[in-house]
Amino acid sequence: MLRTPLVRRLANSAHALARPTPRARTLSVAFSTSRPAASKAPAAVPFTSDKFPELVRDSRFGSVTPEHVARFRDITGDVDAAVISAGTNTAQELDVYNEDWMRKYKGRTTLVLRPKTTQEVSAILRYCNEHTLAVVPQGGNTGLVGGSVPVHDEIVISTVRMNAVRSLDEVSGILTAEAGCVLEVLDLHLRERGFCMPLDLGAKGSCNIGGNVASNAGGLRLLRYGSLHGTVLSMEVVLADGTIMELGKPLRKDNTGYDLKQLFIGSEGTLGMITAVSILTPPKSSAVNVAMLGVKSFAEVQEAFRRARLELGEILSAFEFFDRTCMDLVKRHLPIREPLETKSPFYVLIETSGSNKDHDDEKLATFLERLLEEEVVQDGALASDTAQAHAMWNVRESITEACSKEGGNFKYDLSVPVPQLYAIVDAMRARLADLGLLRSDSAPTAPVTNVVGFGHIGDGNLHLNLTTTGWTRELNDAIEPFVYELVQARNGSISAEHGLGLMKAPYLEYSKSPEAIELMRRVKAAFDPKGILNPYKYFPRQ
Ligand code: FAD
Ligand code: MLT
Ligand code: ZN
Repeated sequence: MLRTPLVRRLANSAHALARPTPRARTLSVAFSTSRPAASKAPAAVPFTSDKFPELVRDSRFGSVTPEHVARFRDITGDVDAAVISAGTNTAQELDVYNEDWMRKYKGRTTLVLRPKTTQEVSAILRYCNEHTLAVVPQGGNTGLVGGSVPVHDEIVISTVRMNAVRSLDEVSGILTAEAGCVLEVLDLHLRERGFCMPLDLGAKGSCNIGGNVASNAGGLRLLRYGSLHGTVLSMEVVLADGTIMELGKPLRKDNTGYDLKQLFIGSEGTLGMITAVSILTPPKSSAVNVAMLGVKSFAEVQEAFRRARLELGEILSAFEFFDRTCMDLVKRHLPIREPLETKSPFYVLIETSGSNKDHDDEKLATFLERLLEEEVVQDGALASDTAQAHAMWNVRESITEACSKEGGNFKYDLSVPVPQLYAIVDAMRARLADLGLLRSDSAPTAPVTNVVGFGHIGDGNLHLNLTTTGWTRELNDAIEPFVYELVQARNGSISAEHGLGLMKAPYLEYSKSPEAIELMRRVKAAFDPKGILNPYKYFPRQ
């Protein structure tokens, strides 16, 4: 039976779409509301060292003294914006750098340094190395694994003031920018000149390009533009002893020796400070289409993906999925309306980006109509203008914030073969139900309120999130390492894109062999012999 063509249905369903909101603005709003809940004051973030007493402070590290602070003031030209210290600033001003985005980790630093130049970073690190003062590199502090904040009293070195665009080669699209440039600011800069960033994520309004590279962020368009391991061409770094190094050249091809910059991509502040990055940027697309689909099962999510790759080919730029509970959470916590009329167990967001609007429109419409006719999807909406496209993306990008507003949030970013992706969510639900920890009619006060799955299907990346009434050691132990065992059994990775940080450091062996971990330790020792850079993280405790 031929069903009503999807495109027409969509024009009719436009009223069901969320009110038009420019995407960039939405992100800013998301950020301004993401920390404290509007109605009641949020609970204080517990100190990491209280929550995890096994993380004992390394006594080899010195403590910050007034003499040290005076020296750092000299180095940074005694600019007020460059030094935030317990002697001069309030605890709240320091909290911004001590507390992570998840409100799960909190350090006790008394000193935040915000250098303006690579030379200042170099002088700071040389001094810290000489005095064995531990440091934490920090960008936008949007990391989700506790890597960007101190565990004890490590000095925070923030890149926020290093925010100049150094150059853009408008023939090849090679951008060179300082580490503290905000991702969204770079994207806008590029778009005015016909290019765009090859990386996009919900935190784009706050995260820095240095932090993106240090965490090897994946994001929403990795499917199209590939990972930072491919797009980052070179970088400027400062090693623990203050040595400034150029790793690679801003060239597409450079086949001379070890590609050392690759080590820094995903090094999470453990090998050195990234101070500038050269990255290959693609031309911005003149024709962008976004559609949201409702499907009945995860098998149909996969079938829609398989078909999208075949039938949309080179114009497919994103293929994201989320389950019904994600949609419910977004609607509960944010002023967002559901784009589709029918409730479905799973949703898919498809984006195409190309250069020929008529061609792309027709290709996507034909593809969607076929899926609807063949009942691969049960409902769909094709955005008819930019505002509707933004609204659809807004639903997907708001899942992180909605989960964080539920209370506690256990967050996992797992790589598993696509066919087995959602089985992880089902297995986690089953385990928690067996243990009486999952809230249901028969367990109305159980601590886990939701187990949700969403993520980047195109990359085989599942985001498994558990919302809870709070963090307890017992709950933690019921979930970990069980979740990592599920991944290991499927030959997956315990981190697809968020990294190891503090959260996953103890579990590295679920993804890397003992020999590989030992080699990583030797690499770390070669770059940072005193271990002052981002200690307690990345590696399992010995
Ligand atoms: P930070 O959080 O400040 O730091 C991250 C790590 O990098 C830390 O270990 C830090 O020590 C280190 N670091 C920071 N700057 C430097 C530097 N200059 N030199 C050396 N080390 C440094 N991630 C994804 O991969 N995909 C997503 O889709 C995604 N979406 C997100 C959505 C939201 C709403 C949020 C809050 C986070 C999201 N993230 C996502 C997490 C992601 O890792 C970060 O958003 C981003 O890449 C980190 O950048 P940042 O500047 O905030 O770094
Ligand atoms: C996302 O894909 O939305 C991000 O990785 C953030 C998250 O996992 O919450
Ligand atoms: Zn993600």
